[in-house]
Amino acid sequence: MLDTLLINIGQLLTMNHGEKPLKGEAMGRLPRIENGAVGIKDGRFAFVGSMEEAKQLKAEKVVDCMGRIVSPGLIDPHTHVVFGGSREHEISLKLQGVPYLEILKRGGGIYSTVQATKQLSVEELKRKAKGHLDRMLSYGVTTAEAKSGYGLDRKTEWKQLQVIQMLQQEHPIDLVPTFLGAHALPKEYEGNAAAFLQSMIQILPELKGMAEFVDIFCETGVFTVEEARAYLQKAKQFGFHVKMHADEIHSIGGTEAAVELGAASADHLCGASEKGIEMLAASDTIAVLLPGTTFYLNKDRYAKARSLITAGAAVALATDFNPGSCPTENIQLIMSLALLKLKMTPEEIWNAVTVNAAHAIHRGSSAGQIQVGRFADAVLWDAHHYAYIPYHFGVNHAGTVWKHGKVVYQ
Ligand code: NIG
Ligand code: FE
Repeated sequence: MLDTLLINIGQLLTMNHGEKPLKGEAMGRLPRIENGAVGIKDGRFAFVGSMEEAKQLKAEKVVDCMGRIVSPGLIDPHTHVVFGGSREHEISLKLQGVPYLEILKRGGGIYSTVQATKQLSVEELKRKAKGHLDRMLSYGVTTAEAKSGYGLDRKTEWKQLQVIQMLQQEHPIDLVPTFLGAHALPKEYEGNAAAFLQSMIQILPELKGMAEFVDIFCETGVFTVEEARAYLQKAKQFGFHVKMHADEIHSIGGTEAAVELGAASADHLCGASEKGIEMLAASDTIAVLLPGTTFYLNKDRYAKARSLITAGAAVALATDFNPGSCPTENIQLIMSLALLKLKMTPEEIWNAVTVNAAHAIHRGSSAGQIQVGRFADAVLWDAHHYAYIPYHFGVNHAGTVWKHGKVVYQ
């Protein structure tokens, strides 16, 4: 006897692709079952097949999907979900044309959020982050990466990671913690990035078990490629996996450095060079694209998704949810931007928010596919074709969300 049986699924997106990330052309395939059914038992998928095969199955609860789509729970592999305050007071500067990095230089941007984050207690920060996670869940996200990076000192970075750890216990979304202590250079370290990065390296041993990945904002006026390389090399020596905010605004060779370091992902990539794209294609590093950020920074230079896919790279998509450059938890909006601005096909987009997103945070063998034995994380969509979701933009199409077999949003 199953706990739950979903029947009459018009398109069951199993995403049954095996254990490897999808590179290049492989991203165009979307494994699915037309007129399918899914059985759930003890929090895991226990049956995945056609309605014909499901005929004899019995369950405590039967959900008639009435021809709608079921997909795996979506995965958001790049978020800055734990922070204090918000930054709407900077909008007028932005509208006057003051660039993102100039606002930062003047002490706003990330620095402004660092101040606000320092002022909140663990409980307050947790309550605020929970609200954001609830919203992510409502859009169909069941696994997400969560970065620190609004402390830039031991105490506040630790506080953020603690909040992530607590929410990992309390919230339905599975969280994958990343230490982003190297998010900006604190003013008191001006001219001395090496000393600041050394201070972050010193706290790495304490972060074992608190963070899986170490990330750095490699950008003109923030941290150079050389600094990023040396820092992430140290992080690897301490046993962390690494990621990089690479070539987001300026083309400075961050993509190449991320690949050379064997990073799990290189993120943003709007300014990735031809060579960087070739290197990504020849590597296991996932290209995590964040078109919501390009949109919200009002820039024209979107990441070259088509070149990346043609070259043979594995592309994932994420919100980059944060209070400055991309204040939205809506992964479905990102799917629409990927369609329009990155010219990705609906099939590529679905693979990018499931299978490849899982690989970007080392969850490729546990999340992102509907497969017997895997945890039952799934979404029933208010739509009859998978292409409808990126197409009908700006609204929420998620109907019911299951996490480990339980309904967590409806
Ligand atoms: O990925 N670029 C660096 N970090 C974030 C923005 C953080 C912020 O502005 O608060 C990003 O865009
Ligand atoms: Fe980011």
